[in-house]
Amino acid sequence: VLVGFMGAGKTTLGPVLAERLGRSFVSVDEVVERSAGSSIAEIFGTRGEGAFRMLEERAALDVLDRRPPAVIELGGGGLGSSTTRTALVESAFTLHLETTPEEAWQRVSSSGRPLARDRDQFQALFEERRASYDAADGRARDLDGAILAAAGVHISAGALDRVGALVSGSAPVELVADEHVEALYGERVRAALNGRVAATHHVPAGERAKSAAEVVKLWSAMRVGRGGTVVVLGGGCAIDAGGFVAATYLRGISWVAVPSTLLAQVDAGIGGKTAVDLPEGKNLVGAFHWPMGTVVDPDVLATLPSAELENGRAEVVKTGLLAGEPLCDLELPEQVRRSAAFKAAVCLKDPHDQGARAQLNLGHTFAHALEAASGYSLAHGHAVALGLTAALRISGLEGDARRVEEILRPPLAAVDRDAAWAALARDKKTVDGRPRLVLLEAPGKPLVGVEIDSGVVRDALDSLIA
Ligand SMILES: NC(=O)c1ccc[n+]([C@@H]2O[C@H](COP(=O)([O-])OP(=O)(O)OC[C@H]3O[C@@H](n4cnc5c(N)ncnc54)[C@H](O)[C@@H]3O)[C@@H](O)[C@H]2O)c1
Repeated sequence: VLVGFMGAGKTTLGPVLAERLGRSFVSVDEVVERSAGSSIAEIFGTRGEGAFRMLEERAALDVLDRRPPAVIELGGGGLGSSTTRTALVESAFTLHLETTPEEAWQRVSSSGRPLARDRDQFQALFEERRASYDAADGRARDLDGAILAAAGVHISAGALDRVGALVSGSAPVELVADEHVEALYGERVRAALNGRVAATHHVPAGERAKSAAEVVKLWSAMRVGRGGTVVVLGGGCAIDAGGFVAATYLRGISWVAVPSTLLAQVDAGIGGKTAVDLPEGKNLVGAFHWPMGTVVDPDVLATLPSAELENGRAEVVKTGLLAGEPLCDLELPEQVRRSAAFKAAVCLKDPHDQGARAQLNLGHTFAHALEAASGYSLAHGHAVALGLTAALRISGLEGDARRVEEILRPPLAAVDRDAAWAALARDKKTVDGRPRLVLLEAPGKPLVGVEIDSGVVRDALDSLIA
C-alpha cells in the first residue's frame, strides 16, 4: 500500500510498480469515485470531507480484503482512520512515498484538488500528517527505492554500522560469517548489533562453505530459539549456506543477509533462494527462505579482490541486458542499487521460481556447463561472461555480444568439450535432449524456455572453449 502526502507521486509510480511486481493496481480514490458515482471534488463540495473519509475507509477495507494482493494507492489523508490503520498493520506492507512540501505543492497546486488551493493550509496539512506516515513499514523516493523497500533490501554507504537498527526486535543473534570477511568486518557488525550476538560461527571462504558437513556443524552449534535471528555476513557462498541453515534449523528461523561481494549484493543476497552443494552437483539441496532483510553496504566492496569484482560485474552486465539499460556504465554504488532492484522485482513477482525468475538464467545454461566441466575451478563470473556472449549470438544480437566481450574480456575456457556438452545435456532446463535457453528478442525483452536445435547449442558451447 502506497501512502504519502498528495503530490508524492503515488498515482504515477503505483501502476509502474504494480507492473514490475506482476500485480494489479488499485486506487482507493478511484474505488470511492466509482461507488459514489461522482468525483472526489464533488463529494467534498456537496457532502463534505467527513462523508468522503467514511467512503474512503469503506473502500480501503474492501480493497485490502481482495485477493490476490495488489499494489494499492491510499489517498494522502487515508491514514487518519484508525480502522484503516489497524487493517494496514494486519494485512499490508505499507510504503511511504516521501516528498517535500515544496515538491508536492509544485505538482498539485494547479490540479484543483480540494485540499490544494491555499499554500499555507497545504503546508500546515503537510506538517499535521507527517507523523502518520512514520509508522509505514518502509519508505522510498523512487521506483527502485519502492521495490527495494518491499523486498526488505536496505542499500546505503556505511549500512554495516546500522545492521542493529535493521535487524528488528531484541532477540539474540547468531552471526555466520565467511572467515575472511569476518576478519575484515565482523567486529563492526557485532558492534552494530550492540551485544545481541550470542555467538559467531565461521564458514570457510568460497564454495567449501556450501557443504553438507559445514551445515551439520552450524546446526549443531546453533543455540538461539525460534525467536532468534541468523545474520549472515559474506559472499554468495556464506549467504547460501547460512541462509539454508536459517531455513532449516528449528524448521526455519528468521535471517538477515549482509552480502559482501558484488555478486551477492546484486544477486545471491536477494530473493530467498538458499542452497548447498552435493558431490553430484551444485545447489542440489536448498530451500526458499526470504531473508527478513538484506543489508547492502557498497563500501565493503573496496576490499574485494579485483577478480571477485569482475565476477559480480558479469551479473551486472546480465541484469543490464535483461533490463534494457547499460547498468555497468553507472558508478558502482548505483550499479548495485539498480541491479539489486531489478533482481528484487523479478523475485517478488515470482518468489518460488515458477515463471518470471527463469529470465535470470540468461547465459547461465552455458555457464553452468563450463563450470561443471572445469570441476568448478572456473570462476562463475568468467563462465557467465562467456555464456552471455553465446546466448546473445544465438539471439542474433552480435553487436551486444561484442560489447559484452569488450566490457568483460572473458578468456576462452580451458575445459574438455565433451565434458561441457555432457554437463549441458544434464541441465535442469533440457527437455527430451533439446536444450531450452533464455534468449533476448532485444535488450530488455527476454524470451524464456526457447527450444534450440542441439547442433546450434553445441557449436555455441564449443566456441567458448579454448
Ligand atoms: N542464492 C542465489 O540466488 C544465488 C545467486 C547467485 C549466486 N549464488 C551462489 O553464490 C556463490 C558465489 O558467491 P560469490 O561470488 O559472492 O563468492 P564467495 O562467497 O565465494 O566470495 C568470494 C571470495 O571473496 C571473499 N570476500 C567476500 N567479500 C569480501 C570483501 N568485502 N572483501 C574481501 N574479500 C571478500 C570471500 O572470502 C571469498 O574468498 C555460488 O555458490 C553461487 O551458487 C547464489
